[in-house]
Amino acid sequence: MKITFLGLGVMGYPMAGHLHTAGHDVCVYNRTTAKAQKWVDEFGGNYGETPALAAKNSDLVLLCVGNDDDVREMIVGEQGVLSVLTEGAIIVDHTTTSDRLAKDMYRVVQEKGCHFIDAPVSGGQAGAENAQLAIMAGGDKTIFDKVSPILDVYAKSLLYMGAAGAGQATKMTNQLLIAGVLQGISEGFALAKSAGLDLDQVARAISAGSAGSWQLTNRAENINKDKFDYGFAVDWMRKDLGFCLQAAKAYGIELPNAQWVDNCYALLQTQGHQRSDTSVLVKQYADIKQAK
Ligand SMILES: NC(=O)c1ccc[n+]([C@@H]2O[C@H](COP(=O)([O-])OP(=O)(O)OC[C@H]3O[C@@H](n4cnc5c(N)ncnc54)[C@H](OP(=O)(O)O)[C@@H]3O)[C@@H](O)[C@H]2O)c1
Repeated sequence: MKITFLGLGVMGYPMAGHLHTAGHDVCVYNRTTAKAQKWVDEFGGNYGETPALAAKNSDLVLLCVGNDDDVREMIVGEQGVLSVLTEGAIIVDHTTTSDRLAKDMYRVVQEKGCHFIDAPVSGGQAGAENAQLAIMAGGDKTIFDKVSPILDVYAKSLLYMGAAGAGQATKMTNQLLIAGVLQGISEGFALAKSAGLDLDQVARAISAGSAGSWQLTNRAENINKDKFDYGFAVDWMRKDLGFCLQAAKAYGIELPNAQWVDNCYALLQTQGHQRSDTSVLVKQYADIKQAK
């Protein structure tokens, strides 16, 4: 298969790299061309100046860009890939988008005789770099089966969730759980600090028990060093919580924790934390003084 990968951000850059390293013929595109050039210098392969130029003669287009509008632009925009793909080609979207966007894209792409799979990922920057991503996919099962061996290159887990949009609905669930865990860590660390405990020691003690989590294992040390300039951006999490809150409204259910966390992130954005890792949520307790 000739593969095109669009979007070489924190996630896309290493994911495209794994495909090339696994022996696939990969052509990349990135809005900021310098990153595409850097990728080619590091891995080989080549890049296109536009999504359409990169996707010419491709059997499979993978993308991991920012939000719904970016995905739409990459696929059906003036220089989008759908203008050059031939019948039977497959598009797999790793971006976290709304499930509505996934359903729209599935329909539009299908009308052109091609196929669309929504396949958001979880596992963060480290998961992408170490090829240990959890991938949750929606769309046609036969098409999912066809692309699975390729997605497997950077997957720790790869599961088919159902029809178009099911991957994104699963990812919403994932984001709600992350919001819950981070809010729990924020409150827990605030209490531990007030009690005068050593926070690194607290993290070590509770990681081994039933309060252990990916966030605690991968973020506690940096939280305690006040380091947040990496990882999964607050801007992206607000986008994702927006999808969750919108869906919940449509289903008539309340998500009080997600709403609280979203409000905290909105405030943190005004304080310059737009690109900080989501663990920066602990700063809602920044005024708490360590007990002696
Ligand atoms: N980072 C994580 O831990 C993580 C984990 C799971 C899922 N995700 C999701 O994965 C997606 C990508 O995240 P990321 O952290 O890799 O983001 P990122 O580092 O900000 O990269 C975003 C990529 O999308 C491109 N892009 C943005 N807007 C565009 C537009 N209008 N047209 C064309 N390209 C555009 C950027 O191009 P430029 O280089 O030109 O800016 C860049 O290549 C997001 O949907 C995010 O929610 C992220």
